[in-house]
Amino acid sequence: MSRQITLALSKGRILEATLPLLAAAGIEPEVDPGKSRKLVFETNRPGLRLLVIRASDVPTFVAYGAADIGISGKDVLIEHGGADLYEPLDLGIACCKLMTAGLPGAMDAAGHRPLRVATKYVETTRAYFSRLGRQVEIIKLYGSMELAPLVGLADVIVDLVDTGNTLRANGLEPFEVIEDISARLVVNKAAQKMKHAEIGELIELFDPAAGGLS
Ligand code: ATP
Ligand code: PRP
Ligand code: MG
Repeated sequence: MSRQITLALSKGRILEATLPLLAAAGIEPEVDPGKSRKLVFETNRPGLRLLVIRASDVPTFVAYGAADIGISGKDVLIEHGGADLYEPLDLGIACCKLMTAGLPGAMDAAGHRPLRVATKYVETTRAYFSRLGRQVEIIKLYGSMELAPLVGLADVIVDLVDTGNTLRANGLEPFEVIEDISARLVVNKAAQKMKHAEIGELIELFDPAAGGLS
């Protein structure tokens, strides 16, 4: 008998890109998660249910075993730390870059004082500038990072860049790439042992070439 598997999906952009992957894998939610206010969805695949949760909460649900498996942005995984999760598959969706950006010349504008950096990615930003040996003051924001340099809140930002439209529309320039980002499949370590067959089958559905986890 196959065991129950809970798959946590990131709502928002990743959910939009995930729904076609589910359809291609033959997984049909009971109702369209993009349209419903429900948070838990049964599927046509026996024993498989879906959770739809805030993108930044997916690693937490999977790490604690509230979900066996999840789909999460690499940006969110890096910020979370990820040591307590397996990451068997790059799904190649929701691709973008985590970058530094700001007004032209902003990287040098701070002179000898610490550079002020506005970001949602506090830990990733701290680690990046520490690798560069550069002193920074980090200002935590929850969105619209591009506003910070325009109103003097920060010298530069660390944020996601895809088309570059948001930077351009606000007169900002991209500087350095910190990481290439895409959505990844993540697996709870205990579930990987206890539900090896079921999780392996699911990974193969998303990418037959992956052949499940060893
Ligand atoms: P949260 O609710 O956790 O604060 P959010 O509101 O920013 O997140 P989304 O904008 O849907 O949620 O982003 C979720 C994920 O989608 C990000 O973590 C990232 O991996 C990816 N992503 C975000 N912005 C882009 C973009 N412009 N292009 C491609 N992928 C993106
Ligand atoms: C994301 C990201 C950038 C923008 C980049 O914001 O934080 O602002 O997309 O994409 P682009 O290079 O194609 O313009 P989002 O639209 O998710 O808004 P948010 O601040 O509410 O997360
Ligand atoms: Mg966003």
